[in-house]
Amino acid sequence: MTGKPAEVLGDRAGGTVRLERDGGVAVIVIDNPPVNAGSAAVRRGLLDAVATVAADPGIEAAVLIGAGRTFIAGSDLREFGQPLEEPQLPAVIAAIEACAKPVVAALHGAALGGGFELALGCDARVAAPGTRVGLPEVTLGMIPGAGGTQRLPRLVGVSTAIGLICEGRRVAAADALALGLVDAVVEGAVVEALRTAAVAHARGLAGAKNRVADRAVPAEPADRIEAAASAALRAGRGRPAVVEAIRAVRAAAERPLAEALAEERAVFQRLRLETDAFARRHLFFAERDSARLPGLEGVAARRLERIGVIGGGTMGAGIVIAALDAGLPVTLLERDAQALEAGMARLRDHYARRVDGGKMSAGEAGKRLAALDPTTDMTALATADLVIEAVFEDLAVKQDLFRRLDAVLAPGTVLASNTSYLDLDAIAAATGRPQDVVGLHFFSPANVMRLLEVVRGAKTAPNVLATGIALAKRLGKLPVVAGNAFGFIGNRIYAAYRRQCEFLIEDGALPADVDAALERFGFAMGPFAVADLSGLDIAWRMRRQQAAARDPAARYVEIPDRLCEAGRFGRKTGSGYYRYPPGAKRGEPDPEVNALIEAASAAKGIVRAAVSDEEIVTRVLLTMVNEAACLLSEGVAARASDIDLVLVNGYGFPAWEGGPLFWAGRQDPAWLEAGLARLGELSGPGFRLCDPGVLRAALGPSNLAL
Ligand code: NAI
Repeated sequence: MTGKPAEVLGDRAGGTVRLERDGGVAVIVIDNPPVNAGSAAVRRGLLDAVATVAADPGIEAAVLIGAGRTFIAGSDLREFGQPLEEPQLPAVIAAIEACAKPVVAALHGAALGGGFELALGCDARVAAPGTRVGLPEVTLGMIPGAGGTQRLPRLVGVSTAIGLICEGRRVAAADALALGLVDAVVEGAVVEALRTAAVAHARGLAGAKNRVADRAVPAEPADRIEAAASAALRAGRGRPAVVEAIRAVRAAAERPLAEALAEERAVFQRLRLETDAFARRHLFFAERDSARLPGLEGVAARRLERIGVIGGGTMGAGIVIAALDAGLPVTLLERDAQALEAGMARLRDHYARRVDGGKMSAGEAGKRLAALDPTTDMTALATADLVIEAVFEDLAVKQDLFRRLDAVLAPGTVLASNTSYLDLDAIAAATGRPQDVVGLHFFSPANVMRLLEVVRGAKTAPNVLATGIALAKRLGKLPVVAGNAFGFIGNRIYAAYRRQCEFLIEDGALPADVDAALERFGFAMGPFAVADLSGLDIAWRMRRQQAAARDPAARYVEIPDRLCEAGRFGRKTGSGYYRYPPGAKRGEPDPEVNALIEAASAAKGIVRAAVSDEEIVTRVLLTMVNEAACLLSEGVAARASDIDLVLVNGYGFPAWEGGPLFWAGRQDPAWLEAGLARLGELSGPGFRLCDPGVLRAALGPSNLAL
């Protein structure tokens, strides 16, 4: 029912904003594909549109709506690393508030960040059912900068606003309605219905303004605000963006609006140019790119309607849960009835825990488990489109399994292995169809961890790789493609990192020094605490298997072997690098371990010397950077940004440092090169230094979004 043809506004970038008319209501359409990001051109167009609405006596009200599949999904992040172009978002919102005619935001898809701040500047918000709204700036190292910290608490109160902003929560339409973030949810999913309803809503306002800014912040008890603030600080590990967001939201209840808005803007302008924000933008773009592999453009994934999982142990059960939660039916194969029952018990316990914790209804849990077909009969896998094995980490076992699978699976079925360290090509060679084999390296717990290394074997077909990536996306995971090499990307770097930490304790540090220094840098947990938690025995067994193949000249630290020989396998045996008295939350330094370490150094003639925190962190980070560059030269990783994603999402590397290569990109190149040379000397023979040319190229701005 549009009357006159659309007037194109903000056309400097090709008509990103249009003004259409529906009787006396102006419909302002934001059209900046693919996600209507709030660019400078969009802001100019909006300002022009609002001016037209204000000036035209034939217009009584306006509706703001996004073309395509979304409202404004967020601001254009690429702008945030540079001076912002005028007009800036607060000016657009001020114009909407100053306009005497009511403006209704019609939301669908995503209304996030600046997009939601714009909606908060309107006089009403109506949303389509699938809409998500929220202010995720804190997750990008910033705070909302266009009034979000002031208008949101006026709708929901300070404590709720602190939670929403600090978590960066994306709120679904129904919850948004319950919280008062939107005024109505329009039934009927089509955008046309939304538009019609928004126009009717705008008419219904009868010309009256209803600014969020004019409302008082609802009163609430001080202790509730305190509780929300301390919970947010804890969850956000006291990061500056969290601290500032809390301060800004509190100011909404304490200071005049204009003053608080100016302060919010100043903080936003400062934070967006700090390392934290650059690092998180780098990771944001890295995530966006991770599934777009050069050479896979236009390659369609194979069908994925049912999957098979082999092995219902720790990993298999986690993979089953991830699939069932994503609505993907699963056939679970175990080797015998007893093992199958153990796997099923694991799965039933998991869902029972969620039901008991009030996270899921019993009916829903039952529905999910009903989509699972447990079996000990391999032929039942014939209906699966993709089969993942998560059986014991033993090449002979996996090869035997793949050989037998070859005989029963339908042609075209994708065969995946969750192996951590084995040679994928050797597994694939056991089948007559190595082109259908791919690695899917999940992290533990597989239903929780987002990272998924998709491993490309020498013969993996492009559409099989694409299917691995598609499965990752279907499960809500973050796929990173790796080549088939020992440890792929993550475990390979982690192994180098662990080795360097062992050098450090042999050179003079103690486990607690290394853990503390790295935790202060921001790692979720130090390497020795991690080792104790996951157990020292598996790596010990692996080292003994590989002992014959080890370069005898290479520096080899015997301390972990000595610990295992003493029965110290970590937490599960009550002692490892630390001792764990019954009930202890953390391990305690153990004089016995100190003595063992000192003896190990002495046996090699190493004169132990104090190692500073800075030295520990530098040596560890340089080791990671060095190994990362080696992975790039070997083609195991395709991009610097992929490596950063793996370390941040799978190994507790602090997101605010952006990953090891992002960190390296911010160091002085001469210092970095000298540091690497010194690292080579300290690490002794057998330590392979990377190609400096490859490293230099990896640290270029195009790779790191600096
Ligand atoms: P697990 O020992 O908990 O489970 C293995 C399961 O496979 C057992 O339930 C066993 O009954 C079953 N199984 C063994 N042979 C079988 C066969 N021929 N047919 C059917 N089922 C069979 O082991 P986990 O920890 O789940 O590891 C499985 C795989 O995942 C290994 O390759 C491991 O390297 C890999 N992985 C493990 C991670 C971890 O943190 N545990 C992380 C990433 C990968």
